[in-house]
Amino acid sequence: MYRDILDAIKNGKLPTVDENSFAGPVAKEYFQMKGVKMSKRVSLIAGNWKMNKTVEESVELVNDLKQKLSDGSVASDREVLVCPPFTSLVVVKEIVKNSVIKLGAQNMYFEKSGAYTGEISALMLKNAGVEYVIIGHSERRQYFGETDESVNKKMKVAFENSIIPIVCVGETLQQREKNEAFSVIEKQVKVGVAGLSAEQSKKLVIAYEPVWAIGTGKTATPQQAEEVHAFIRKIYTEMYGKDAAESIRILYGGSVKPDNVSEIMRQPDIDGALVGGASLKADDFIKLVRY
Ligand code: PGA
Repeated sequence: MYRDILDAIKNGKLPTVDENSFAGPVAKEYFQMKGVKMSKRVSLIAGNWKMNKTVEESVELVNDLKQKLSDGSVASDREVLVCPPFTSLVVVKEIVKNSVIKLGAQNMYFEKSGAYTGEISALMLKNAGVEYVIIGHSERRQYFGETDESVNKKMKVAFENSIIPIVCVGETLQQREKNEAFSVIEKQVKVGVAGLSAEQSKKLVIAYEPVWAIGTGKTATPQQAEEVHAFIRKIYTEMYGKDAAESIRILYGGSVKPDNVSEIMRQPDIDGALVGGASLKADDFIKLVRY
């Protein structure tokens, strides 16, 4: 084990290692010093395709991903997720069966059924083979009137249907410039993810996506992102206790690309990435998965 890690360091690669396998505090400090990330959490690399890809294009992309990831090269410390548009879910589900790729959706409605023209329920998603659902993405907040209250309702209904919600939070540029980033995020977390059971509170995924970094080519520096991730985990500790806060995965999103992913993933409180643009090309997404 130690030999593998030392070899990896010599080769300039920084593996993720399980803290439980360390011999003691000295070893821990050594690896921390070397920048080796120590995590008990399985990373999640999630592709948010947004309003892109027809059925044919979805089939092509996911077949390509499946084939390129079928060589056993996805490390056991990470999960791979694609979130296609609704129209492609069922067809993608058939392709990802028996592969390392999991299926997610980009939104849902909180009512069970009825006269809600154009909406999709959690049960419909579950039935289509969905395991994760993105909730409260900033684009939904900005263009479709999503609020912390509707996020909260959706999150609970997703859990009731055994779908893991990925709840998005993040400040706008204006809010960051006015020094409001932390208070905005605190409210989004405190209201958006309130009211979970003990079991649910350990399974939730939160994505921190600074709005100013989405699709703009600007990323938060790894330090800026880490600061917010640690802050979210602190608030979550106050809400649900240390165990839950240590269990949940907090993803970073906003212009994650093959050339910045390693540095981002090296931060102790960053447990994965929610990726838009770079998830639309198989080769780029695969580089992210193999960060
Ligand atoms: P981006 O999008 O990677 O294109 O910035 C991220 C997101 O909105 O989830």
